[in-house]
Amino acid sequence: MKKLRMKDYINKHKTRFLDELFEWLRIPSVSADPAYENQVLRAAEFLENQMKKLGIDKVEICKTKGHPIVYGEKIIDPKAPTVLVYGHYDVQPADPIELWDSPPFDPVIKNDKIYARGACDDKGQVFMHFKAYEVMKECGMLNCNIKFLIEGEEEVGSTNLGIFVNENKERLKADVILISDTGIIANDVPSITVGLRGLSYLEVEVTGPNRDLHSGLYGGAVANPINVLCEMIASLTDENGHITIPGFYDDVLEVSLEDRKKMNEAPFDINEYKSALDINDVHGEKGYTSLERASIRPSLDVNGIWGGYIGEGAKTVLPSKASAKISMRLVPNQTSASITKLFKEHLESIGPESVKVKVTAHHGGEAYVTPTDFAAYQAASNAMKESFGVEPIPQRSGGSIPIVALFEKELGLKSILMGFGLDSDAIHSPNEHYGVFNFLKGIETIPLFYKNLNPN
Ligand code: BES
Ligand code: MN
Ligand code: MN
Repeated sequence: MKKLRMKDYINKHKTRFLDELFEWLRIPSVSADPAYENQVLRAAEFLENQMKKLGIDKVEICKTKGHPIVYGEKIIDPKAPTVLVYGHYDVQPADPIELWDSPPFDPVIKNDKIYARGACDDKGQVFMHFKAYEVMKECGMLNCNIKFLIEGEEEVGSTNLGIFVNENKERLKADVILISDTGIIANDVPSITVGLRGLSYLEVEVTGPNRDLHSGLYGGAVANPINVLCEMIASLTDENGHITIPGFYDDVLEVSLEDRKKMNEAPFDINEYKSALDINDVHGEKGYTSLERASIRPSLDVNGIWGGYIGEGAKTVLPSKASAKISMRLVPNQTSASITKLFKEHLESIGPESVKVKVTAHHGGEAYVTPTDFAAYQAASNAMKESFGVEPIPQRSGGSIPIVALFEKELGLKSILMGFGLDSDAIHSPNEHYGVFNFLKGIETIPLFYKNLNPN
């Protein structure tokens, strides 16, 4: 049989590609909730099966202390470049479920978009790599060695993958890492992510009296932990949007004015931004644009806050406890460990005598910047230029993928963040979706990356 050209092959098989992805999306691989442990394993087994069907070698479900890692490789020529493809098959919890227009684990296509939890982050994007592999294999295009490393704990901090990487340096040897777990600016404005922020995530618990009190008998005379927690949180940023934790900015690597100017040339419409979010104004650190605030500057956000009575009607109570989950996005040269320490010390020091403050650290990770002046970046840039017909813009993102900095530290490898999602895909939110255009464009672009990486 004559080999089909790549685009014809994709066209001919796209319905099946989508059907296969849908089967995977139906498995609720929620890593955060222990109730889904078996589903996470099923999602790993689906992948194992897919990889075996594609003829990928050494396919293995690698057990960890948490959810497993799925590994496989195809070595075609020891002298050819080796690409390590990383992604994650775990997804965020689907709640609040009542806000989904269709069930999160029953994928549907509406307006040319695939609606399901994980459609974009990251199952849909990971699956592009396996379909791209199929395309390359069937069209006689395999020209690089490929190692696939797909984990099940990205959404919970990748701790066990960190251990796996440290223990498997030989197996993971490669020339570069390729990841599709980020986005582009717009479908007609392709971009390559060249920066990720780091993360420190903590939980604060404020304890007041040893029991809930009648707010009439005690209110005004005993510190209310919710009031205190709110005051403490409010004091963490000043009127200029600066974070007030002493030493917080000490290690921040400032971006040059020249680079900032270039960054702000990227298409960005503040009015569209506001109207898409239904907000009347933006907010943030004085002296920086919205694009900068959400990429090259650190930030602090409360992710959740609770305490007291939240049921129907009113209950007059002065609660014993209040808690909040707080995260900080970090930029290059800040380290998660030192920021976590500064935060903990600061919070404990500002707590008034009237309450007890307990701060617990969750996961963290370091920021990362991809250089644009090396061959693999050029290969990705030219691949996108060919498939989109426009040269992609290098752009730093505000999101985090903690393992990327660790890959560089442990394996000495740079990562190319060639993702195809859109900010409007509602990842982590109800009605997460991924464009069929983006899914197919990814499948078309990935083979071009390999072609450019090893042109001979
Ligand atoms: N894929 C995202 C990160 C992302 C999305 C980066 C879009 C850039 C653009 C990833 O799955 C994610 O959600 N990461 C978490 C960090 C993790 C430690 C929970 C995040 O950024 O909150
Ligand atoms: Mn992701
Ligand atoms: Mn995510």
